[in-house]
Amino acid sequence: MKINAAILWEQGAPLSVEEVELEAPRTGEVLVEVKAAGVCQSDLHPARGDWPARTPLVLGHEGAGVVREVGAGVTRVRAGDHVVFCWAPACGVCPPCLEGHPVLCDRLERTTFRNRLPAGGSRLRARNQDVAHFNGTACFADFAVVAEEGAIPVAADVPFEVLATLGCAVVTGIGAVTNAARVERGARVAVIGAGGVGLNVVQGAVLVGCQKIIAVDTRPRPLNLARDFGATDTIEAGAGNVAEEVRALTDGRGADYVFDTVGTPATISQALEGTRKGGAVVLTGLSRTDALASIPTFLFVMQEKRLIGSLYGSGRPLLDIPHLVTLYQAGELKLRELVTRTYHLDGINDALAALAAGEGARGIIRW
Ligand SMILES: NC(=O)c1ccc[n+]([C@@H]2O[C@H](COP(=O)([O-])OP(=O)(O)OC[C@H]3O[C@@H](n4cnc5c(N)ncnc54)[C@H](O)[C@@H]3O)[C@@H](O)[C@H]2O)c1
Ligand SMILES: [Zn+2]
Ligand SMILES: [Zn+2]
Repeated sequence: MKINAAILWEQGAPLSVEEVELEAPRTGEVLVEVKAAGVCQSDLHPARGDWPARTPLVLGHEGAGVVREVGAGVTRVRAGDHVVFCWAPACGVCPPCLEGHPVLCDRLERTTFRNRLPAGGSRLRARNQDVAHFNGTACFADFAVVAEEGAIPVAADVPFEVLATLGCAVVTGIGAVTNAARVERGARVAVIGAGGVGLNVVQGAVLVGCQKIIAVDTRPRPLNLARDFGATDTIEAGAGNVAEEVRALTDGRGADYVFDTVGTPATISQALEGTRKGGAVVLTGLSRTDALASIPTFLFVMQEKRLIGSLYGSGRPLLDIPHLVTLYQAGELKLRELVTRTYHLDGINDALAALAAGEGARGIIRW
């Protein structure tokens, strides 16, 4: 079928929205009509060239839609189901899957993270070339063919703009708190970067009953949003020393947990310094693939700090995403409030520019 999709032809150049041929779903795959898609920094990284990627490539990995067709052998979803995309479609049988860590599934490294579908190859063609599916999702498009495990059925009465950001920003931020760090009630936490992921760290911290939630950002708009999401204190990074300010807000001790949702060498240093003795840094921010950070090894040992990497909420997306929908329905999650800008697919480059400019929370594409 012919659809419109946003293609990255060359890293560093704008995306081009154009007609693309999309093949029918093969065995184990489903065709989803995309209804809403969030625009995440992880789309910006390949667009800018921070991460090497083969082009042409249809971007988009966070979104929701309606299943229109299922391939042979598909059992978990049916035509008509409302689904949230999952960019970590796990195989279920490799060692990390069997050990209960599906986000570390070995198949992801061979397929999804190389922008291929698990069954191999591409279902997209434009200008007589195969086009890759970013994170096996490629949802900056009218329709997407994804692996069955990449489409998670959710309640049909939840609006698509509410579901748009669930499958990346929300599950990543909340899971960092509840699964990766297992933050306990009454803890004092700080989060560096109050964008799509960071605001969800804030609301994860609210959910578990943190006593103090300090949001750090370089820009005032995200900090105002962070207060709306439940941050008790804010620090505008820039002139001052972030770690000192975090310590000043925690009786001189440092936070029990510092979440770094930016992930640059500088913010990792701030996070390590702003953590109390025996505390933990949880790193979700992804910078360039060749970035290195440094650790003051003597103090790290003497102060028994911990450094935890967290991918996609470190949980079980097939269970966690429907659970997050339930929390939203119970009034415990702010999802609509995460959407501060709405675009049509034609506006994808404006959406990416607004994200790069840090205009706060999430922009989404609506169909
Ligand atoms: N671990 C995962 O599974 C996962 C999932 C999604 C996104 N990511 C990564 O997380 C990062 C954040 O993504 P996002 O979509 O939330 O981005 P975003 O643009 O929505 O938010 C980033 C925020 O950080 C702020 N910021 C930038 N530099 C800062 C600094 N030095 N100090 C304090 N604040 C600063 C920005 O103003 C912005 O508000 C990206 O690198 C993205 O690729 C990782
Ligand atoms: Zn696996
Ligand atoms: Zn993302």
